[in-house]
Amino acid sequence: MVLEDRVIVISGVGPGLGRGLALQCARAGADVVLAARTESRLTEVAEEVTKLGRRAVTVPTDVTDEASCRRLADTALESYGRVDGLVNSAFAIPPLTDLGSVDLDAVRGGFEVGALAALRLTRLLVPALAESGGSVVMINSAVLRHSRRTFGAYKMAKAALLSLAQSLATELGPQGVRVNTVAPGYIWADNLRWYFNHLGRKRGVPAQQIYDEAAATTDLRRLPEPDEVADAVVFLLSPLARAVTGQCLDVNCGEWHH
Ligand SMILES: NC(=O)c1ccc[n+]([C@@H]2O[C@H](COP(=O)([O-])OP(=O)(O)OC[C@H]3O[C@@H](n4cnc5c(N)ncnc54)[C@H](OP(=O)(O)O)[C@@H]3O)[C@@H](O)[C@H]2O)c1
Repeated sequence: MVLEDRVIVISGVGPGLGRGLALQCARAGADVVLAARTESRLTEVAEEVTKLGRRAVTVPTDVTDEASCRRLADTALESYGRVDGLVNSAFAIPPLTDLGSVDLDAVRGGFEVGALAALRLTRLLVPALAESGGSVVMINSAVLRHSRRTFGAYKMAKAALLSLAQSLATELGPQGVRVNTVAPGYIWADNLRWYFNHLGRKRGVPAQQIYDEAAATTDLRRLPEPDEVADAVVFLLSPLARAVTGQCLDVNCGEWHH
């Protein structure tokens, strides 16, 4: 139970990694604070956390809004009296268009949710994290490792998020707060299942073939599941990683080496 009785705030709790993060933190012994805009989903995930024997507080939050984030930070502290970890996972799909023609406002939107929101939320929780000797994990992406066409806007936002994590590690280290990054590649969850079904229909092949082709590009010949990515986050939040800060841990079954 590497997170026994720790309090972890998770921003961007959706059906994929966000849910996995909440459940793996709970399995590791943590109580959680769940944030995203859709209250019904937060409630569903909170029920799953409760079934694991841990507490969950839900706070409907728009991470691009200062007042909303302040309410999240205040509620976390009022509910538990402490915060030991923050995971910034909120994510809005940026335009998948070449940079030569992409709408600049859409690129700006990717920065708002993907990078600036993580800075906003982290700043609000720094006093609590400094008090607990806590840590922050930013959820990044394997887009850091390639420059494929149409991923430019996503890569720009995630590159900013990586820089943010590294600079915050330097700024907050003297207060005893660690800041790290996890960069998943594929995550084998509903979104990807839907996408592989879509690709299969388009190409007239079974979705399994699309999976096998993707898996063949990884050393382990399979795609990581949300819990497996979340476990890397649990490690970085835990005392096992007490000397690790400013680092990026890639979780991709060996698709990219870094
Ligand atoms: N899925 C993949 O294959 C993959 C691969 C590599 C990296 N990643 C990274 O992993 C993270 C999680 O991705 P996921 O696909 O698994 O997502 P997810 O956990 O299923 O959902 C992310 C959630 O972020 C929330 N969000 C979006 N805008 C928000 C806002 N303004 N305020 C608060 N919450 C907001 C959305 O919930 P609401 O709409 O309810 O707010 C959404 O459900 C992301 O950082 C992503 O870049 C994903």
